[in-house]
Amino acid sequence: MKIEDVKNVCIVGAGNMGHQISLQCALSGYKVICTDVIPAVLEKAEKFVDSYLAGRVQKGKITEEVAKTTRANISFTGDLKVAAGNADVVIEAVLERIDLKRKIFADLDKIAPAKAILATNSSFIVSSRIASATNRPSQVCNLHFFNPALVMKLVEVVQGPHVSDETAQCMMAFCLKIDKVPILIKKEVDGFVLNRIFAVLQKEALWMLEMGVATYEDIDKACVYGAGHPMGPFRLNDLTGIDLTYDVCMGHFLETGNPADLPSPSIVKKYTEGKFGQKTGEGWYSYKK
Ligand SMILES: NC(=O)c1ccc[n+]([C@@H]2O[C@H](COP(=O)([O-])OP(=O)(O)OC[C@H]3O[C@@H](n4cnc5c(N)ncnc54)[C@H](O)[C@@H]3O)[C@@H](O)[C@H]2O)c1
Repeated sequence: MKIEDVKNVCIVGAGNMGHQISLQCALSGYKVICTDVIPAVLEKAEKFVDSYLAGRVQKGKITEEVAKTTRANISFTGDLKVAAGNADVVIEAVLERIDLKRKIFADLDKIAPAKAILATNSSFIVSSRIASATNRPSQVCNLHFFNPALVMKLVEVVQGPHVSDETAQCMMAFCLKIDKVPILIKKEVDGFVLNRIFAVLQKEALWMLEMGVATYEDIDKACVYGAGHPMGPFRLNDLTGIDLTYDVCMGHFLETGNPADLPSPSIVKKYTEGKFGQKTGEGWYSYKK
């Protein structure tokens, strides 16, 4: 696939990441179809698109014309066949579960045109573990956006050993087209570049909390006021989702059997209480007001 041939984009999963990736692509002129298995999630995503575009017009950030074109560029459906049937690029952003991702990629391999690139937005899972569920491994790669996807510029393009140069280059060019700053990661490592760095920070922050060294509020303050981070690790955890942290840790543990990979007790507690962060109205902090 060459970048000039990319016109239609399919996003699978309209949650935290998927709906914003969809909108970013639509704002950049791509025709986007976003799909999810939960109708309420699709409705929420559609409402977000409308209110976001109206807000940008009101603030003078985009013209009425751009808002109208963008709105016309994006549609939502519960049917994967409709969403991916004519796609040049598919970006999967469903839950961080390897079996689910492999199943979706196997389906996409049957549905999407043979030339299409199938990318995963997974936070930690390298695409070679998913590519083997398809008959087009050279066109399957990681395309890792950051939260919130409309705001954060970085996208990690991971060129595993199975990924062709053409696919990697097309994805690098695609990121530039959608106004992002891509980096090319030339070796497959779980978590890629930035999440590996953040994982160390988060692990240390949780350890200090659980040892009673400081409160989570003060640990966040240390990172914000001492290191200049825009937010501390606990606030960031609320934004990215405590359920995601739980899934990532459990995924590692199930593979390695190493108890050190298990989610920490305070993450397990939040997870079992259903306190996932901003998305549920409460995590480390409360968002109920
Ligand atoms: N949250 C973050 O900060 C962040 C950042 C970068 C990457 N990611 C990655 O992006 C992916 C999605 O994360 P998220 O935070 O958006 O999760 P989320 O839970 O907010 O959304 C996932 C969505 O996938 C949908 N889904 C589940 N099965 C599906 C299927 N078969 N077909 C279509 N949709 C399906 C769910 O209904 C849900 O709406 C994960 O792989 C995660 O690792 C997340």
